[in-house]
Amino acid sequence: MWGFWGAAAGSLPLLIAGILFHLEHSPTVELPRMAKDIQAQDEAFRSMNRTCFILGATGETGKELLKEIVGRRLFSKVTVIGRRKLPFQDETYEDVVQEVVDFEKLEDHAAAFQGHDVGFCCLGTTKAKSGEAGFIRVDHDYVLKSAQLAKAGGCKHFNLESTKGADKRSSFLYLRVKGEVEAEVEELDFERYSIFRPAVLLCDRQESRPAEWIARKMLAPVSYVFPTAFSVPVSTLVKAMLNNAVFQSDKKTELLENKAIHSLGKLQETKG
Ligand SMILES: NC(=O)c1ccc[n+]([C@@H]2O[C@H](COP(=O)([O-])OP(=O)(O)OC[C@H]3O[C@@H](n4cnc5c(N)ncnc54)[C@H](OP(=O)(O)O)[C@@H]3O)[C@@H](O)[C@H]2O)c1
Repeated sequence: MWGFWGAAAGSLPLLIAGILFHLEHSPTVELPRMAKDIQAQDEAFRSMNRTCFILGATGETGKELLKEIVGRRLFSKVTVIGRRKLPFQDETYEDVVQEVVDFEKLEDHAAAFQGHDVGFCCLGTTKAKSGEAGFIRVDHDYVLKSAQLAKAGGCKHFNLESTKGADKRSSFLYLRVKGEVEAEVEELDFERYSIFRPAVLLCDRQESRPAEWIARKMLAPVSYVFPTAFSVPVSTLVKAMLNNAVFQSDKKTELLENKAIHSLGKLQETKG
């Protein structure tokens, strides 16, 4: 009897390693068309004079995304829409337009959502920070209302930062709400809709989030051996969002899982 349990316990690490190996080496979901020369793609995109807005530009993903956008000079006009003004010191941000809105009265701010070709939504909170109702308000209601106003304002390509495991049938609130909002935004029928489902974000977060901090610490050694299985650096995620945006796509809705995000976000490193 003990022999059986001993053997089972001994096999557990092997089993876990097997699962991780499978996750790491499972086939990547189909990526948008790959381009050898990202610079040429950027150049072609720039010549189209597209405009964009970012929701959540004060957050970890949003601020990195904004930095990458102004650095690559991809859009002729960049607008950040948020509940507070960002103090930009760097002159590279001097042309960024800031729209401060009251998310409880978004209808009153419809004008802020007008005239953007591309929208990036990196909004979100946590149940620990805002409570269950507050989480649903931000991650569902604010996101959906913003998407509706963006669509009405002429946005053609909407990018939503969701999460790994999002599923509208999930019994977990977080995953269910993310899955629901993904599906409801799809019903708005944007010309192009890209859903990003990153795993745990690797970033240098100042705000204290104990659960996320523990997850990051525990994942650090795993991420070293299996980099794409459970986590993604924010810098890789935002590159993936922009590399995806500069490619033409004939798909109306694109679902980019964590592994695809890694591949897309590292195109700059693999070119040539
Ligand atoms: N953290 C992770 O490991 C992880 C993993 C996968 C997916 N995600 C998802 O990715 C998205 C972005 O995550 P993140 O960690 O980059 O976000 P973050 O750093 O928490 O930033 C969230 C953004 O949403 C805004 N926001 C939050 N509550 C708000 C409210 N009540 N009214 C208006 N704006 C509000 C914040 O504005 P203020 O700065 O004004 O608060 C900030 O700009 C979220 O949807 C999250 O669920 C996160």
